Amino acid sequence: MITKSPLCSFISILGQPSVSLKQGADWYGFELISTEVKELNMTKKKNVIITGAAGLVGTTLRQYWADRYSLRLADIRRVENLQVHEDFTQLDITDLEAFATACQGMDVLVHLAADRSPTADFYESLLNLNIIGGYNGFEAARRAGCQRIVFASSINSVLGYQGAKSVSWDVPVFPQNVYGATKCFGEALGRVYADQHSLSCISVRLGSPNFDQGGDWDPENPSHQISPRDMAQLFSRCIDVENVNVAIVPGISRHKKSWQDVEDACRILGYEPQDGTAFPRTIC
Ligand SMILES: NC(=O)c1ccc[n+]([C@@H]2O[C@H](COP(=O)([O-])OP(=O)(O)OC[C@H]3O[C@@H](n4cnc5c(N)ncnc54)[C@H](O)[C@@H]3O)[C@@H](O)[C@H]2O)c1
Repeated sequence: MITKSPLCSFISILGQPSVSLKQGADWYGFELISTEVKELNMTKKKNVIITGAAGLVGTTLRQYWADRYSLRLADIRRVENLQVHEDFTQLDITDLEAFATACQGMDVLVHLAADRSPTADFYESLLNLNIIGGYNGFEAARRAGCQRIVFASSINSVLGYQGAKSVSWDVPVFPQNVYGATKCFGEALGRVYADQHSLSCISVRLGSPNFDQGGDWDPENPSHQISPRDMAQLFSRCIDVENVNVAIVPGISRHKKSWQDVEDACRILGYEPQDGTAFPRTIC
């Protein structure tokens, strides 16, 4: 069932407001986004469905993106505080038919819903959520005719390289737990669906999304974290970038030392991290 926010019927007559930028503004900075009804053109905004939208990552993306996209928020639990550019659909990702229906009319699927615990049990949780639910994302996007799937992978798919100097995206996978192995499965599906079905697939090897520029970190310590605003920018680039058939990119900020090579994401996506230990600490 798809629930529209209360103002949607009004907006659907007017068209949706476009995002306009203040000169010199960083549009990923939450406080710098200004919205105004500049032109009434609904075709410019991409239709994006986010699974797991009620979770940590989905909530962060919604906050930073503001009304950049028309969002369909899909989750097994209710998503609160719907905005005019958002609708909600209750979805269990293990139900392929329902998943494909939810993806109808969407340009891009951002597939976040999964069990994110590195210690999750395979039969209790990972089999259903990360393996079946992961597969269903690719198949639902294909059936619905989406142009792209952005798959939330994890640094856990290459965690075995931790301690190495810098690891590029194309080294052999090296998970150290079954959760990481399920993410490798999703990355592999990306290659199948891009190659066999012409579905553009971008997998993000996400690090911990809680890097704080004003936090207590040492630039000499390798980091695999990403700040919330860098994460919002990175996923946005995954949606907007053109001419990418298949890619696997690191999901980290720019750090002085890290064992994942952030340049891969910069080169492939045009990602420009604004946070990380490579930058000065913010003094509050
Ligand atoms: N948060 C991290 O540190 C981190 C790091 C690396 C990768 N990731 C990946 O990013 C993605 C999002 O992570 P998160 O931190 O937002 O997770 P989260 O646990 O906060 O959110 C997951 C969401 O999925 C929903 N969900 C659970 N079962 C569902 C089902 N059957 N159908 C539909 N929705 C269901 C939950 O209700 C929840 O809202 C995951 O794939 C995770 O593996 C997260």
